[in-house]
Formats: sequence, C-alpha cells, structure tokens
Amino acid sequence: LNVFGHGVCKLLPSTINDDWPGYSLELFNYPKHYSGDLECVYIPHGVIMDRTERLARNIMGDLGDHDIVVLCVLKAGYQFCADLVERIKALSRNSDHTLPMSVNFIRLKSYVNDQSTEDLHIVGAEDLSFLTGKVSSPAAIVDTGKTMKTLLKHVEAFRPKMIKVAGLLVKRVPNSSGCLPDYVGFEIPNRFVVGYALDYNEYFRDLNHICVISESGKLKYKV
Ligand code: HPA
Ligand code: MG
Repeated sequence: LNVFGHGVCKLLPSTINDDWPGYSLELFNYPKHYSGDLECVYIPHGVIMDRTERLARNIMGDLGDHDIVVLCVLKAGYQFCADLVERIKALSRNSDHTLPMSVNFIRLKSYVNDQSTEDLHIVGAEDLSFLTGKVSSPAAIVDTGKTMKTLLKHVEAFRPKMIKVAGLLVKRVPNSSGCLPDYVGFEIPNRFVVGYALDYNEYFRDLNHICVISESGKLKYKV
C-alpha cells in the first residue's frame, strides 16, 4: 500500500506546463465583483469536475468496500472535498461497489497574502480518535509539501489503518519535500492561484474556476 511519506504517486498527474497561458477571461463567466482582479482562467470549473470524477473512480477502485473516514482540510479544501465525496457517492449508488464514508473536518492556516508563513495552525485536530479505519484526506493544494507533512504526522499519531491523500493541485516547486498525495488532480507550475475555494486573504473562494490573480488584484486585497 502506498502510505504517504514514501513519495510515490500512483497516478501520473495531469500536468500543466510552465508555458500554459490559461484561457482568456472573455471565454467564461465569473462574478463581476472580480473584474480587473484576475489575469486568466487557469483551470476551468468543468475541467476540475471532470478530473475529480476520474479521481473518484480511482479511489473507488483502490478502496472500494472498505469503510473510510474522509478528513476534509478547511478552508481551501472544502469545495474539492465536497465534489469528490459527491462523485464517490454517485459511483456507490450506480455500481456494485460501495465505499461507506464518514466525513470530518480540520482547519489549517499558513498563508498571508501569497506567502506561506512559518507557523502552521491546526484547528479542530486535537482529537482524531475517529480515525480508526482508513483515511482519505483531501488537501486542496500542495506546494512545499510542508503543510501536508505536518498534518500527516498529526494524523498518523492516531494510528489509522491506512492513510491516502487526495490533492487537487500539486505545485512544481524547488525544495519540495518529496511528499506527494496518492491522488493528484493537476500538477501545476509554481504560481499563486485562486478560486474553487482557494483564497487570497479570504477573497476569491466564491469563484468557481481556478484563476491567476492579477497584480492589481493582489494590491487591492493585500493586508
Ligand atoms: N492559492 C491559494 N492558497 C494557496 C496557494 C495558492 O496558490 N498555495 C498554497 N496555498
Ligand atoms: Mg488560504
């Protein structure tokens, strides 16, 4: 079993190259209150949903007929987690395999503006004793892998039978910890992205596409 920390990724992540310019904002709808704040649509919502559907199938194939505890990492992971759970539910009711799930939540915070801070806050993770079965822990985004490593150490202390991590985005960064999720949505260049619950100082969570923020957007919402 590919338990986290071995740095092995079972799937070939769908890779977005460094020279990918994104889609013109003209091609898609997005809320008017963000006009001028975005540079491009980096990953359209529909593509995220299609990729999530495939991840659900892979997870079902690997873990089907086990009981799992989904540990949703808030806040940025809530949308990915909700959509992934929804897809797994659809597979469970439409096929011979089922994947009984319970869902729990913890909260992590480490970013101010577009910079990762040293102090990582874990909220709601004091008692994870419900992690007796298996865990699939959707982290929304993994850049240095530092956050994920910290979280995993915490989760492992509660001795779950197995840990599987699903991450929507993995960034190609220098000095990455080598920690990769077991299930990866997209591998992307080292750019700061927002939308689909990913924020910049709490803004842009209400945007359904994953987008690149513009310089003026960064200034506007800077703290
Ligand atoms: N966007 C939003 N939050 C993040 C990112 C990002 O690119 N990387 C790590 N946390
Ligand atoms: Mg954030």
